[in-house]
Amino acid sequence: MYKIGDIEIDSKVYLAPMAGVTSLAYRKFMKQFGVGVSVTEMVSDCGLIYDNKLTMTYIKTDKVDRPVGIQLFGFDENNIVKAMKIVEETNPDFDFFDINLGCPVHKVTSTGAGSALLKDLSHLRDYMALICKSTTKPVTAKIRLGWDSDSINFKETIKVLEEAGVKAIGLHVRTTKQMYSGKANYEIARNLRDEMSVPLIVSGDIFTLDDAINAIDITHADAVMIARGGVGNPGLIRQIDEYYKTGKKTLGTPLNENIKYLLEYLDLLIEEKGEYTAIKILRGIAPKFLSGYENMKPIKNKISQTINTKQDLLNILKDEHLI
Ligand SMILES: Cc1cc2nc3c(=O)[nH]c(=O)nc-3n(C[C@H](O)[C@H](O)[C@H](O)COP(=O)(O)O)c2cc1C
Repeated sequence: MYKIGDIEIDSKVYLAPMAGVTSLAYRKFMKQFGVGVSVTEMVSDCGLIYDNKLTMTYIKTDKVDRPVGIQLFGFDENNIVKAMKIVEETNPDFDFFDINLGCPVHKVTSTGAGSALLKDLSHLRDYMALICKSTTKPVTAKIRLGWDSDSINFKETIKVLEEAGVKAIGLHVRTTKQMYSGKANYEIARNLRDEMSVPLIVSGDIFTLDDAINAIDITHADAVMIARGGVGNPGLIRQIDEYYKTGKKTLGTPLNENIKYLLEYLDLLIEEKGEYTAIKILRGIAPKFLSGYENMKPIKNKISQTINTKQDLLNILKDEHLI
């Protein structure tokens, strides 16, 4: 359907990077629903350079989650290039690099990394040109509309990135100042893909199949990123993928099936992170698998507030006759 460099992608679903969520276990779990491309959570260039143990776990991939990109962030392009070499040497089993130019978190932007790089496009041109020419892998970038509503510059940014040699661009249709609040603004990017020479993947508030159709219809993007809308609702990916392959709108996932998915993800996460850390993460994520179904609120609260082990979760589901 579209290409990132020479990599052919056959689904309109791009699994968005999410720090603390899109680990290898999550990417493997979500792949089966029709993900075309996955990407790691953002990885610090300095974390790789200093051989930080936790950072090194973020770049692990598997044949199941491919094609997969490694997303890097950092303010100094020379450090990014060093980090790219480290990735290529320690884990050559990945498909492209993605550069984070959209992170709004102060800890990141105050160093000049993430979306702070959108503030000075002549600097960004040099930064991205060096990065693109330092690897034989395709390089992509993820941006926002601009820093704030007075400095919307995504069209200029896209030109700079295309000239620097990026092979696809992810656009989160919010400004940095908006962080993750306010409504995603697709109208501002109407017909955007028609003006571009590389694939466009759009991101922001894709919670339903109709949200995805709307985002693609307005922007003519090659794909949509599934971020918060996919957490606990992997069936959304199947609905979008099937719609674009068959033209059919299928129903969402029944509760009993979604609970089966939760248990599958639970086991993958425990295998990856150990039970203690996996359950800590699942206190936030497991309730989302029960969202959108009737009368689940008390059970969701119980899960998020009380589980310490896999057995605790199983006991709650059993007591509620959900398994
Ligand atoms: C918890 C969380 C972590 C995120 N981490 C990253 C990240 O590491 N890299 C990145 O480019 N975007 C990151 N994002 C942004 C998402 O990829 C996506 O663009 C954004 O959430 C908008 O999509 P949504 O409104 O459908 O959630 C993150 C978003 C969330 C909610």
